Amino acid sequence: MTIRFVDLKTQYRALKPQIQDRINRVLEHGQYIMGPEVAELEEKLTAYTGAKHCITVASGTEALLISLMALGIKPGDEIITTPFTFVATAEVIVLIGAKPVFVDIEPDTCNINASKIEEKVTSKTKAIMPVSLYGQPADMDAINAIATRHNLPVIEDAAQSFGAQYKGNKSCNLSTIGCTSFFPSKPLGCYGDGGAIFTNDDSIAQACREIRDHGQSARYVHTRVGVGGRMDTLQCAIVLAKLDRFDWEIEQRIKIGQRYTELLQPFLPSSASRAAEGGAVIHPIVIRPDCTSVYAQYTLICSDRESTQTKLKQAEIPMAIHYPVPLNEQVAYQHRCCPDCTPNSSRLAKQVLSLPMSPDLSTKDQETIVRLLTN
Ligand SMILES: Cc1ncc(COP(=O)(O)O)c(C=O)c1O
Repeated sequence: MTIRFVDLKTQYRALKPQIQDRINRVLEHGQYIMGPEVAELEEKLTAYTGAKHCITVASGTEALLISLMALGIKPGDEIITTPFTFVATAEVIVLIGAKPVFVDIEPDTCNINASKIEEKVTSKTKAIMPVSLYGQPADMDAINAIATRHNLPVIEDAAQSFGAQYKGNKSCNLSTIGCTSFFPSKPLGCYGDGGAIFTNDDSIAQACREIRDHGQSARYVHTRVGVGGRMDTLQCAIVLAKLDRFDWEIEQRIKIGQRYTELLQPFLPSSASRAAEGGAVIHPIVIRPDCTSVYAQYTLICSDRESTQTKLKQAEIPMAIHYPVPLNEQVAYQHRCCPDCTPNSSRLAKQVLSLPMSPDLSTKDQETIVRLLTN
């Protein structure tokens, strides 16, 4: 039995003719940089998200960096964000010379706790950057309301949540700017690095387009300082091919996520009573009723993660920990903020564990995983 943590092979087999055709077309026309597939993908993704503009970029990290540059964030500015995320979220803030101000997370969703944001707003705050972690949008209405009161832009780090919904609207189109990643294992992945920025604001869109291409407003006219941040034509072609079954994949992800939760359900009460006897308790990340999650990861909170890990290891079931150390406890970041002011993040970093998740994961494999996990 081989269960893959992310099954890109089965997806490739299902889409092989489309992917090969798309690659061949690029090889034939030879426009590897800013070829026609770039604009085609941007058009399809604006239609998908409902956002007015999509600007493809070299990665999810680059999407965040370019967004901060487009907003004119400067050294000394403060950006409010979560420490319970992939490093890129805070990395780009520090790269620009700004300061990440970390707010703790909700203990059940692991997303930023919106009710704790406003107390961190100062005269130096220049943006709020929530992360839609594990594929579920953060509480964007509450975050946008705070932002409006203080006249701040909101950048949703939607690297893990492309395709998810919040109150019927698509992630990436829930605030001033939405940034996603097409890293291969993401819900919509390419075969290398890629990402995209979404916005309804014409001037932000224009700035992002120029910054991704060395700040050019026309060929060799450098209106602002930019970066080499374009997404390759070939990677855009791969994403275009993958869009062919993306709606089906999102449905599958939601079904598979819900099936994990259903399969685990009978074990939750017994694990609670096991806790009373000193045993281990596991429970899944909660999905809010006004959200869908695309389950970039299917994540459990385990009171005794080590014993859960041992069981899975013995059964050769792959797993991952997202993320083992909150960013405000990492060596590169701890002196820039308070390392001990986010207790939920500190605790959950020791308790989260993600199970295999792909649109092609079979029911049989899921049953096997849950059986091994719960016996
Ligand atoms: C929350 C989050 N933000 C940003 C990124 C960065 O994306 P990329 O790897 O495409 O640069 C990732 C990717 O892992 C992520 O999970």
